[in-house]
Amino acid sequence: MLERHVLFCHGSDCKDRGAEKTMDAMCEAIDAKRLDHRVLTTRTRCLGVCAEGPVVVVYPDGVWYGDVRAKTGRKIVEQHLQHGTPLDDHVIHRVE
Ligand code: FES
Repeated sequence: MLERHVLFCHGSDCKDRGAEKTMDAMCEAIDAKRLDHRVLTTRTRCLGVCAEGPVVVVYPDGVWYGDVRAKTGRKIVEQHLQHGTPLDDHVIHRVE
């Protein structure tokens, strides 16, 4: 059953900061942990907070992450997507 939807900003600023590597690392981790049937992933256009990039958003939790490099992305997969606890250090916004 689908539990979460992860949005990867692929606007030009986030791409310049390594969004592709972030997405690759997170998708590999999602597959390795066999979360692919529970987590949907989507590339997006600019999400409007370019200075915070690379930006990754997790719904339905409404958690927006900034400065998500590959290593941080893998932590988000393990801590948030697998165990349900957001990685507070990189949260830039929460949709209530
Ligand atoms: S390019 Fe990612 S928020 Fe604008």
